[in-house]
Amino acid sequence: MFWKKTQAPAIPSRDIVRHFNEAAADEENFPSTIDPRIYHVQLILEYLGDLNAKRVLDVGCGKGRFARVLAERYPRAFIVGLDLAEAMLHHVPAGVGACAGSMTALPFPSGVFDCAYATESLEHAVEIEAAVAEMCRVVRPGGRIVIIDKNSKQWGRLKTPQWEKWFGRKELEKLLERHCRKVSSRPISYWEDVAPDGLFLAWLAER
Ligand SMILES: C[S@@+](CC[C@H](N)C(=O)[O-])C[C@H]1O[C@@H](n2cnc3c(N)ncnc32)[C@H](O)[C@@H]1O
Repeated sequence: MFWKKTQAPAIPSRDIVRHFNEAAADEENFPSTIDPRIYHVQLILEYLGDLNAKRVLDVGCGKGRFARVLAERYPRAFIVGLDLAEAMLHHVPAGVGACAGSMTALPFPSGVFDCAYATESLEHAVEIEAAVAEMCRVVRPGGRIVIIDKNSKQWGRLKTPQWEKWFGRKELEKLLERHCRKVSSRPISYWEDVAPDGLFLAWLAER
């Protein structure tokens, strides 16, 4: 007798929501602030440029630690943080819009943002192609996108939940190229003067 091979069911997103709602209480591993000198922040600031009067989306913002720095630096920017976990959103600072939702189906019209970034959140999206497409959809033509996430070549270095996925440089470049005219990627480290150890990659794209 032949048995049809079936794929293991994807973990329902309610498990992921529960995981991150609980994780919000863990300030050590899910901090609400970040040292603005950390290169992950600096790269976003550098690549996105002057954000005053710009509409900016933080995709999978967590507690909004990146958005906090951007909002302090650019008080006239209109910044929205979107996250699946409402308990994370309670920590998003005043002056930053907080929106509950999934990055795989963003509740915004096309082209409404000048730029968007996602830091260590795409790795949890499960439907990666949809999440990249959505992030690109909501950014206007000519607008910029930054994704910072972990390198699939380093898989195993950290403990990860079952649904987490890390990415190869070309893999995400190809997905971004479906929607963007200019795409590049590079290894980055926390500190600009320390050589990258290969764990983090940054993808930069222009719609
Ligand atoms: C490791 S945290 C990073 C948070 C933030 N970007 C930062 O760097 O501080 C991952 C975040 O992605 C969020 N997340 C996971 N899947 C998501 C989805 N499908 N849509 C929106 N947010 C999601 C989680 O709730 C969590 O807050």
